[in-house]
Order: sequence, then C-alpha cells, then structure tokens
Amino acid sequence: MSLSKLSLMGHSAAGRVAVITGAGSGLGRATAHLFADEKSKIAVLDINLDNASKVVEEIESVHGKGVAHALKVDVRNTDNVKAVVDDVAKHFGRIDFLINSAGVGIAPGLTMDAHAWDNADFLKNYEFVMDINVTGTARMIQACVPHLAKAAAENDTPLNTSTPWSNTSRIVNMASIAAVRVSGMTAYDVSKHAILGLTRSAATRLGPKGIAVNCVAPGPVFTPLTEAYTGPFIRQLASEKPHRRPEFPEDVAQAILMLCRPSASAMNGNIVEIDGGCRNMMFGHPYNFDALKDKS
Ligand SMILES: NC(=O)c1ccc[n+]([C@@H]2O[C@H](COP(=O)([O-])OP(=O)(O)OC[C@H]3O[C@@H](n4cnc5c(N)ncnc54)[C@H](O)[C@@H]3O)[C@@H](O)[C@H]2O)c1
Repeated sequence: MSLSKLSLMGHSAAGRVAVITGAGSGLGRATAHLFADEKSKIAVLDINLDNASKVVEEIESVHGKGVAHALKVDVRNTDNVKAVVDDVAKHFGRIDFLINSAGVGIAPGLTMDAHAWDNADFLKNYEFVMDINVTGTARMIQACVPHLAKAAAENDTPLNTSTPWSNTSRIVNMASIAAVRVSGMTAYDVSKHAILGLTRSAATRLGPKGIAVNCVAPGPVFTPLTEAYTGPFIRQLASEKPHRRPEFPEDVAQAILMLCRPSASAMNGNIVEIDGGCRNMMFGHPYNFDALKDKS
C-alpha cells in the first residue's frame, strides 16, 4: 500500500461509539473524557451508577447533551452484560469500540503463601478478582462482538488491499505492568497475565471479523484503586524514573485512544506499556544520570 493510501485511513475516532466499563472512576473515567474530546459518543458503564452518572454530567457540561450515556453493569453477570450491551447498541445505533477498564486491585489477602491454595479466604478473593478482571472482560467481549463486527462491515473501506476488512472496530483490554513483571499480589498478577493471553487469543479469532484487540499495561497510576496502598510507592518510583514524573490517568487514556484510531489498523494482539520507562531500568534502579552528566 502506498503512503498516500495509508494516510486515507484517517486519524480520528470522531463519530464512533465507545463502550467503556469501569468508566465511573480512574482510568475508565479519564478515557471517557478523552473520547468525548475526540468527538466520539460514549457509553459510561460501571457497577456504581451514581459515579457513572456523574461522569456523564461532567462530559455533557463540556460537550452538550447526548454525547454520553450512563448504564449500570456488573461484569460478573453474563445476562446483565448482554442486556446492557444490547441497550447501548439500541441507544447509539452502533458500537465501534469496547474498552474494558472495570477491575479490582490488590489487597493483602491476595498474596500467595505456601498454604494459600488450601485457604478458603484466599480462594474466595482469588475467584473474585479473576471473575471481574478476566472473565468479566471476556463476557464484555462476547456480548460486544456481534455489534463490533456489524460496525466493521459498515465501515469497510478496503483501500485497495487484498483483505476484505479495514478492522475499524477495536477492543482495548486493561492489563498492567503486572502482566509483564509481577506485583507480588498473586491473584492480581495472575489476572493481568491472563488478560494478555485473552487479548492475544481474541486478536487471532476476531481479526477476520474486522476487530483488532490490544491491551494496555499501565505502571502504577494515582486512581482510587491504588492510592489507598501504593501512594508512597508511586511517589518514590516517580522520583527515580527517567523523566521524573508519575503517569496520570490521562496518559493511559491517550494510549487507548491511539489504539482505537483508524490509523492504528496494524496493531493487533499487542501490549502497550505506559510506565514512563521504569521497566527498562536495570534491576529496578535507574542509572545515575546526574553523575553521568558530570563526567561528560
Ligand atoms: N491505577 C493503576 O495504577 C493501574 C495500573 C495498571 C492497571 N490498572 C487496571 O486498570 C483498571 C482500572 O483501574 P483504576 O485504577 O481506574 O481503578 P478504579 O477503582 O478507579 O476504577 C475501577 C472501576 O471498575 C468498577 N467495577 C468494579 N467492579 C465492577 C463490576 N463487577 N462490574 C462493573 N464495574 C466494576 C468500579 O466501580 C470502578 O469504578 C483495572 O483493571 C486495573 O487493574 C490500574
């Protein structure tokens, strides 16, 4: 394909409809705001309807009525997920993107020790985390696929390629840097590694339907999920990073938007790390850049 034809793919997600779970808070909320700025329409889904409705109010106060729609969903419930997704399709007429940001985090009881797998509390917490973070993501994918495939078919602009689809429908899952390293919180680490596997498998299966599936892997970001127990850690890590700042929810939202733009058509089954480069630091510690500067 010539460069000029690639450029025809466009760079904007304007006019598309995004379903965002966990959009009442944190990374999902920031993503909902950014997609509204891009002139997409947004279904703001969360188990906490009050928070989802507040996000819709915030968006509508900037972009006007009708841009966003709040719905209560529990991603643990297959029937509820399907009914809510079908409601969104009815409300907006189509679904182009699914962003799976509903998730639960880490707690002391979720760390594995020698006897964890015999421990009823550990197993209960482990199943809770897996049900929301992993199976909840899979339930959302299953419910959205017919709508995403329909939208891809309607958007189809072959651009003189040999493939029948231009895969304008996208799914972005929320992994974590704990999917490429580990946090030490066993259930969370397992769930985020599973998201990577789910993303790669779904990318392979859904590509022929015109749907690209990727995931993002944020490092620790200040949100309600993390601030209770990792605040000091995030601050310390930021001071050691190459660019000396923490990541913000908006940083993650920007990466998600990038993956949904038509021009990201060749990204499929990928993991995009948003950690300010901290994974590259040797043994978890940065070089002493200031000392290097003195010697140069
Ligand atoms: N904040 C971070 O540092 C960070 C880093 C890497 C990955 N993540 C991942 O990003 C995602 C979002 O995290 P966040 O920091 O925005 O957390 P958050 O707690 O601010 O938001 C999560 C949202 O998910 C909703 N939710 C929880 N259970 C649900 C259910 N059963 N059905 C529907 N909605 C439900 C919550 O009500 C909440 O609004 C999670 O998957 C998390 O693991 C976060």
